[in-house]
Amino acid sequence: MDAKAAAEMVLGNLQSGVHQKEQDNSSAPENVVVLKSDQEGACQMCDSDPAGGNQELTESILDDLPCSQLLYFEKMDELFSASRTSPVSKGRDERVNSSSDKIRDPLTFSAGAEHRNRPPDSSSHSKCVSFKTESLKDHLKSAMTGNARAQTLQVSKTKQLKEAVLSEEIFVARKVIESSSVDIGPFYGLPSKVKDLFRQLRGIETLYEWQHDCLTLESLQQRRNLIYSLPTGGGKTLVAEIIILQELLCRQKDVLMILPYVAIVQEKVRGLSSFGIELGFLVEEYAGSKGRFPPVKRRVKKSLYIATIEKGHALVNSLIETERIYDLGLVVVDELHMLGEGSRGAILEITLAKILYTSKKTQIIGMSATLNNVGDLQKFLQAEYYTSDFRPVELKEYIKVRDTIYAVDSKTENGFAFSRLLNFKYSSNLEKADPDHIIALVTEVIPKYSCLIFCPTKKNCENVASMVCKYLKKEFRAHREKEKQDLIKNLKSIGNGSVCPVLKQTIPFGIAYHHSGLTNDERKSIEEAYSSGVLCLLACTATLAAGVNLPARRVILRAPYVGSDFLKKNQYKQMIGRAGRAGIDSAGESILIVQEKDKHLVQDLVHSPLENCYSNLLLELSKGMQSLLLSLVGLKIAVTHEEVDNFMCCTLLGVQQQLLSKEKSLSEIIKDGLENLIEKGLLKGRISQEDHNSKSTLTITPLGKATYKGSIDLAYCNLLYRELKKGLEGLVLESNLHLLYLSTPYDMTSTCSPDWMIYLRQFNQLSAAEQKVADIVGVPESFITKKASGQAIRKNVDNAVVNRLYLTFVLYALLKETNIWSVSEKFNMSRGYVQNLLSSAASFASCLLHFCEELEEFWVYKALLTELTKQLTYCVKTELIPLMEVAGVLEARAKQLYNAGYKTLAHLANANPETLVRMIEHLSRRQAKQIISSAKMLLSEKAEALQEEVEELLKVPTDIPGTH
Ligand SMILES: Nc1ncnc2c1ncn2[C@@H]1O[C@H](COP(=O)(O)OP(=O)(O)OP(=O)(O)O)[C@@H](O)[C@H]1O
Ligand SMILES: [Mg+2]
Repeated sequence: MDAKAAAEMVLGNLQSGVHQKEQDNSSAPENVVVLKSDQEGACQMCDSDPAGGNQELTESILDDLPCSQLLYFEKMDELFSASRTSPVSKGRDERVNSSSDKIRDPLTFSAGAEHRNRPPDSSSHSKCVSFKTESLKDHLKSAMTGNARAQTLQVSKTKQLKEAVLSEEIFVARKVIESSSVDIGPFYGLPSKVKDLFRQLRGIETLYEWQHDCLTLESLQQRRNLIYSLPTGGGKTLVAEIIILQELLCRQKDVLMILPYVAIVQEKVRGLSSFGIELGFLVEEYAGSKGRFPPVKRRVKKSLYIATIEKGHALVNSLIETERIYDLGLVVVDELHMLGEGSRGAILEITLAKILYTSKKTQIIGMSATLNNVGDLQKFLQAEYYTSDFRPVELKEYIKVRDTIYAVDSKTENGFAFSRLLNFKYSSNLEKADPDHIIALVTEVIPKYSCLIFCPTKKNCENVASMVCKYLKKEFRAHREKEKQDLIKNLKSIGNGSVCPVLKQTIPFGIAYHHSGLTNDERKSIEEAYSSGVLCLLACTATLAAGVNLPARRVILRAPYVGSDFLKKNQYKQMIGRAGRAGIDSAGESILIVQEKDKHLVQDLVHSPLENCYSNLLLELSKGMQSLLLSLVGLKIAVTHEEVDNFMCCTLLGVQQQLLSKEKSLSEIIKDGLENLIEKGLLKGRISQEDHNSKSTLTITPLGKATYKGSIDLAYCNLLYRELKKGLEGLVLESNLHLLYLSTPYDMTSTCSPDWMIYLRQFNQLSAAEQKVADIVGVPESFITKKASGQAIRKNVDNAVVNRLYLTFVLYALLKETNIWSVSEKFNMSRGYVQNLLSSAASFASCLLHFCEELEEFWVYKALLTELTKQLTYCVKTELIPLMEVAGVLEARAKQLYNAGYKTLAHLANANPETLVRMIEHLSRRQAKQIISSAKMLLSEKAEALQEEVEELLKVPTDIPGTH
């Protein structure tokens, strides 16, 4: 590689002005819209060209460069010559990466190409720039011809590797130069390819006016934090995605996107993988037990981490700990109102507060459809606010009382205006079976359009689905009959031969229920069938409201309750917001069924403002606050009482101090919290009343560190430590039963009530060594037998332990049989619950692993837990694991793929979508493409990580004795 040619290539970048921005990050405004800075850079150069002649310009090109760029250029030159003779130092290596990065990346590199594409009449500027690009092209050509001719010498592996990387980069760069279709900037600073991708993959032709306004906000250009709020279905995601792409591609920084649920994370990973492949960034999943801490440091590509709230927090912690938080350019939080929702809200608040405090340059963007006290949130996030009431599809809101439908209308006195009477004749029998006229309401829309019925309980979902299809005309069966039969077949294969009897009865009518009692595989099949119109009616619980994007022409709320609680305004808004989504429906309406007695409450509900979002740090005996304090000291973010006080002022709680009781100030609460942590043996140091002690330093104990690293609930950390310690004295390793007991999540024991006969049966099936496990953990055999025979128990046995062991038996059976269906039958539990137990155990096992990693005495657990976590995560036959690593490929799909001959990740990544659709039943083209993209992404992510490792291994240390 000719150093001059390389330098010329760098020059191409320098001209764009992008580099200058990158080197001098403090200069404002940042290049959010690269096109602008780009043009400015080019103009500047041409204006300063005294001769104005093209030839001269090439020759004196170096003279024209600003000195910051010259310096960079010199370093590059030095670097290339150094790489020929000796290995480079770490710092230099990074520069190679970042510079070759520019060369390789079509987006930054093509800055020059953008000018080339401008019409020739624009000005002399474009002429001179196009000339430079030409010369660059020539240099590249000659460099490569030279390389081809050059004799191959005996070279070291390192050198070979570096050369391989370099020549690949040249190849890419050349392709970029040759392709005239790639430009930069026309689409909000992004290449027009991004626009094409949105068109191809999402069917989005143009942006809504508000989306454009929001993206061109002055505050965004200045990289200020931003909260934006629009009604459900307003198109918030697209704006966030464009900002994310700007950060990854233009600013070359990593991005974290926080979403509320695992299923949504997986959906997003699938959806954005194709963008990553096309545009050259990585998409990494952080959900359940997936995700690495700290994340793998990437050589070239930038990463988009898509995470649940919990995993997002752990990721941020690991970045702060390894001093890499500055790599995170942007954090996007969808459904920002989650801040106000229980302990998960507290975790989100903690995560954001830590970012705000430790990395001022990381931009934070939050969005939601349901925000009220925006002022507080703005203060907390130091953010600007954008809002609009735009909704592409009008949503009409109704309530139904007896047989009358009223429109929700705030202009009328009681808030409702008469709309119409139900036009449906009910026999007395039917009236008895369906007093709320659900059948009348659904048959107005199905089967032509889709309809969702939100029900208060799981059981109610199943009842409503059964009831409706009982009274539907036979004609409903004929609609897409074959596909419905296929769906039942599919569910049967998912259930290893058995289908839920309710679904078997309802699906032929195009109806199904949907709640957490279904397995993930079943839920997915039902969702897909509903999305494609095979099913036209789902009776579901509130979980679907904020879950996957399932649109409906009509949304019916069966009652204004969730469980036995009256509906909250936020929940109501989210549920009705599923009606009428852009691109799918042209209209949408919601009907809330109201009993006479609830009419007044409903009036309040419909017309009241949205609930406020309050900090949850003080929830459950300040659980959130305690774990925050622990990690603040652990991460050395704040290590004195005074520093902690300062930090807390930057939380949402700090903003909402009115939440505090009159008796105790925030500082006093903090003091109590710190003292409590010292008492528990998690922190060391002294806190006292005296002011001068507020400056004394606190440190974290090994147990404290293990606790926050493993995200272990403070209520259990001492107990967990004792149990693991006891395990060291006599862990029964004949099977994994004992280890499974330790990995059974504590917080699920309260939701479990054992069936004593089943308990005894399971116990009796254990081997003698396994039975000893029960005794060791504190459940004697006599206790189980007595319980099973209904005898009174005198002995004092800990209920939590008894329940926990029962759940362990469930997990043990699952790992043995790898069949959720047979296990849930055996234990008389819903299959959804069993699956939930399994995924909670997988998460807890990985937390436990992190806990043990921090405590030397528990070294032996590390190997054991690594394996167990894997088994719990993919509780399937081992051969399916590589396929299930791909986001959103669940067991049933993995089985299908495996049986069709797709046995490895590489098989999937290189599959042809058409063949895949042909070979795999119930797989749409879109799904096939998404699977392939996700597999490609995972493969390239793994390969990158390995290459990273190779580089690290081959790097020659700079401090070898005697070399200086
Ligand atoms: N400019 C656009 N043109 C056409 N369709 C669009 C456009 N922007 C978004 N959409 C579509 O509108 C639908 C709703 O968008 P999105 O999911 O972003 O809504 P949202 O504001 O996040 O709603 P929610 O609060 O319910 O999550 C999606 O199907 C999306 O593809
Ligand atoms: Mg959304």
